[in-house]
Amino acid sequence: MKSLSYLNKYLIKYKWRLLLGIVFIIGSNFFHVNMPLIVKDAVNQFDKNFDPENWLDLALSLGGIYILLSLGKGVFLFFTRQTIIIVSRYIEYDLKNEIYRQYQRLTYNFYKRNNTGDLMNRISEDVTKVRMYLGPGVMYTVNLVILFTFTIYAMINISGELTLYTLTPLPIMSFLVYKVSSRMNRQSERVQREQSKISTIVQESFSGITVLKAYGGEKRFQKNFDDSANTYLKKHMDLVKTNAFFMPTITFLIGISTILTIYLGGVLSFETQNSISEGDIVAFIFYVNMLTWPFASVGWVTSLVQRAAASQERINEFLKEEPEIKNNNYQPFNFDGKITFDNVSYTFESSGIEAIRNLSFEIKKGETLAILGRTGSGKSTVINLLMRQFDPIDGEIRIDDKPLPTVNIEEFRKQTGVVPQEVFLFSDSIRNNVKFGLSSDQNADDNDVKNVLKTAHVWHNIEEFKQGLDTVLGERGVNLSGGQKQRVSIARALIRKPKFLILDDCLSAVDTETEEIILGNIKDQIEKNTTLIVSHRVSSIRNADHILVLDNGRKIEEGSHEELLAKKGVYADMYTKQLLEDAEKSKEEE
Ligand SMILES: Nc1ncnc2c1ncn2[C@@H]1O[C@H](COP(=O)(O)OP(=O)(O)OP(=O)(O)O)[C@@H](O)[C@H]1O
Ligand SMILES: [Mg+2]
Repeated sequence: MKSLSYLNKYLIKYKWRLLLGIVFIIGSNFFHVNMPLIVKDAVNQFDKNFDPENWLDLALSLGGIYILLSLGKGVFLFFTRQTIIIVSRYIEYDLKNEIYRQYQRLTYNFYKRNNTGDLMNRISEDVTKVRMYLGPGVMYTVNLVILFTFTIYAMINISGELTLYTLTPLPIMSFLVYKVSSRMNRQSERVQREQSKISTIVQESFSGITVLKAYGGEKRFQKNFDDSANTYLKKHMDLVKTNAFFMPTITFLIGISTILTIYLGGVLSFETQNSISEGDIVAFIFYVNMLTWPFASVGWVTSLVQRAAASQERINEFLKEEPEIKNNNYQPFNFDGKITFDNVSYTFESSGIEAIRNLSFEIKKGETLAILGRTGSGKSTVINLLMRQFDPIDGEIRIDDKPLPTVNIEEFRKQTGVVPQEVFLFSDSIRNNVKFGLSSDQNADDNDVKNVLKTAHVWHNIEEFKQGLDTVLGERGVNLSGGQKQRVSIARALIRKPKFLILDDCLSAVDTETEEIILGNIKDQIEKNTTLIVSHRVSSIRNADHILVLDNGRKIEEGSHEELLAKKGVYADMYTKQLLEDAEKSKEEE
């Protein structure tokens, strides 16, 4: 339960609304508790001094009061919900924002450790469960306390002894409802888990439809779906069975209370020579019925609070997580152009793979460094370290001779344009995808967007789309080819006019000819600014000032294109092989 205390700050934030809600609850219960007294009056008056002349007047006046009381109760009930339930919605909104803000703060390793489903659940399902505690949970608890106080007072006024007898079954009901609710909650969680399994199957079969059809996977998927749907049905049937117990249990216990009231009320009435009237007994039956739902809600609310506590605990776990990478410097920063890696090593905790081992290199202002290496040799890891997605385990990275952790990382990232290896485009227009590259203090018009798309040599494709820059990508939108996506992603990096351009194998899906054109187009950018090009194709990097060859996280060769060729080592070997491949390809084309 301790985890829920985290929410107290929100309860305090909305304390006036909550207090107002409590006033409304008191108001509605005040009207409610007086209603049985009218009935009691009616029964007693018709019973004892029935006057055939006046009965209509009496009926009308008592009926009128009864209607007014229920009207008053209804109005206050309306305002109760308008305050307390609304507060729970406000807190839900605040909490979701808080969680999302935290998600934005957290870094690479956090996202590698946690899967998307968990991240989504925290912000949707768990928050919903917490809201149930804040809304109905708080409302019913306050309501119970107030209604109980009022009702017991009214009942004891009639007869203390009868009150004691008739209330005995109610705590038993609370306990039973608690048991049944907990069981129902457990079962509905199982149903939900099955439901999300079905969603995953269906979703994957839609997004992977091309693979599915190509491999004739329809039957396999159909079987998976059938199996899942079957389990779902079974789990749901369990829930329905428990559910079926719920109302009969309550009704049964109300019945027992009512019978007890009538029987014991009658006995007491005889014993005490009519100090308890028929009207009293009728009012008692009303009161017992009034107390039923609040007592049932004790059980329901208890299990609801337990679930909310478990959810809040999971949320708290995420909220108290500190980002591994923090900006330590908010001073203005102007990147001059020098990068240094000094004996840097990095091992991935999850796989134990030492991706970078004792790596040292330097990129001078305005220089272009190229990193070449086979797949898995650690090239992308170098870039992730440079962008401070994570910090090295050993060694130091320096930007303009300052240790990277002391640099204003937000500013450094702002002045850097990274084209990542895995292209990610948003389901948005091409224009907005390119403009995403602008930092908050930059602006661009359609002409600028067009220009960078031209530089990335993809404008001629986009021009042919009916909607041009407005073309929406992604689901329900246009599918770009792999090479087109890479080029839009290059345009996104270029539009921010970066002082430091990083290209991570981002020309792998275009042919060598297009590659040459693009590299020619950005020649100016590359020559003027510090650049890092990663590739496993010699053709993309041979013009670089300096080339590193990586293997298994280690630097095995370095030098300029010519120097490396003269060495006749790994680089020269790769170069000859790739030249041969290219020559063969062009022969085939002829
Ligand atoms: N998040 C991660 N967790 C664990 N191991 C990782 C992670 N990312 C990369 N690795 C491992 O680190 C090594 C270097 O990976 P990296 O992505 O840097 O290679 P690369 O040179 O960019 O390869 P490619 O040319 O295929 O892009 C690989 O063996 C890879 O399996
Ligand atoms: Mg890579």
